Amino acid sequence: MTGANGALGFPEGFAWGSATAAYQIEGAPSIDGKGPSVWDTFSHAPGNVRGGDTGDIACDSYHRYREDVALMASLGLRAYRFSISWPRVQPGGRGPANSKGLDYYRALLDELAEHDIAATATLYHWDLPQELQDEGGWAVRDTAHRFAEYSALCVEALGDRVARWITLNEPQVVANNGYRHGQHAPGLRDPEAAAAATHHLLLGHGLATRALRDLGVGPVGITLDLHPIRVLGDGDPGQLETARLITDAMVNGLYLEPVLQGRYPAHTPAAMLPPSDLIADGDLETIGQPLDFLGVNYYSPVFLRAGDPDDLRRNEEPARSGVPGVVEYRPGELERTTMGWLVDADGLHELLLEVSKQAPGLPLYITENGRAAEDYVNPQGEVDDIERVRYLHAHLQAAARAIEDGASLAGYFVWSLLDNFEWAWGYQKRFGIVFVDFGTQRRIPKSSARFYAEVARANAVPSLPAAWPH
Ligand code: FCB
Repeated sequence: MTGANGALGFPEGFAWGSATAAYQIEGAPSIDGKGPSVWDTFSHAPGNVRGGDTGDIACDSYHRYREDVALMASLGLRAYRFSISWPRVQPGGRGPANSKGLDYYRALLDELAEHDIAATATLYHWDLPQELQDEGGWAVRDTAHRFAEYSALCVEALGDRVARWITLNEPQVVANNGYRHGQHAPGLRDPEAAAAATHHLLLGHGLATRALRDLGVGPVGITLDLHPIRVLGDGDPGQLETARLITDAMVNGLYLEPVLQGRYPAHTPAAMLPPSDLIADGDLETIGQPLDFLGVNYYSPVFLRAGDPDDLRRNEEPARSGVPGVVEYRPGELERTTMGWLVDADGLHELLLEVSKQAPGLPLYITENGRAAEDYVNPQGEVDDIERVRYLHAHLQAAARAIEDGASLAGYFVWSLLDNFEWAWGYQKRFGIVFVDFGTQRRIPKSSARFYAEVARANAVPSLPAAWPH
């Protein structure tokens, strides 16, 4: 819909929100009976997180949630995606609920309700109780059952106050960064554990989904990080297509296909596939039961082109598919964020249409999208993050175009409400639309917060970013 001044409009009822995750914002790692999570352990071990940062204080949202909810309300945001910390609810990952841990989320949800902000709760955003990790974590099947039990506890206590449930955040990142490459907790470099974790994460999603449905709550979905695979230039079409299919299976299909179709994709390299003896009868039906919606996190595509992995050119890297004659490539003309992530809004349009094709009619939410930038408070006391305004403008236009072209997109959650603990990067990378001074915990809405508030108010992307940020 194109409105006044060429503004691109969104459908009525479109959800405008922001997203955070427990370990990244809450702090208070051992208050009110909370047990340690793998991220507490991992961040405290020297060398794992840049600058030795930990989530011990983070944004102190455990104590400042009222201020944070008031901030959202002041921006006119009507939806909030946060995550529940499993070790707050079950300190050791099993057994009865810790009522003080649940009280925090009850209070947060009450505050949200008072401000008319619909809650989207993610049950797992990477903070596994350490005790379960000590027994093997996601590499063992029991963790999937423990996750379903924990999910049921959350729903019994909080179900009446939550508008949407998300089981897992980005199982791909958990399996690869946590178990295969070791940059994230639990810091393993173990391909077999990673393949097993892939299956048990997905099984945990399926069992939790069933547990939620048995308790009569919903809608329920999962959040996947998806990356369109884009092929550039000429080359051997057969090799490029094979590389595209394998790369797509590795980064997207391995998670998307089981969830949508109840099967692992044919093009997955054998070493990444869960071994068949881990897949019990009925697992894939459990994993593939119908979803109420799909959460999509979008940051960057993967680009492939013809090249020689033994003689890499500028901006080329070896292709993870291992197909000869093909390399991964980071186009020099695309902007990179301070994470080194490529900025490509067209990729979002392509992705939303592709997923809509694979799951016709399934409501989609962009559950994360945003960028890191070198934000600072200027002498006027403002944070003028014009790069983020441009980024949001381009990506929201891409989302609006995707809706026009048939994607069933129902909402958008910017990552993130607040600057926060960016995992292995610690506090060095700022993603918030609100600046956090970590010394004083002062919050300063950035120009992008004002821009985004205007988008939410108008339910449209203004056509003139040059008019921003004032
Ligand atoms: C995603 C994570 C989120 C945040 C962003 C930048 O992979 O889900 O917690 O760190 O990246």
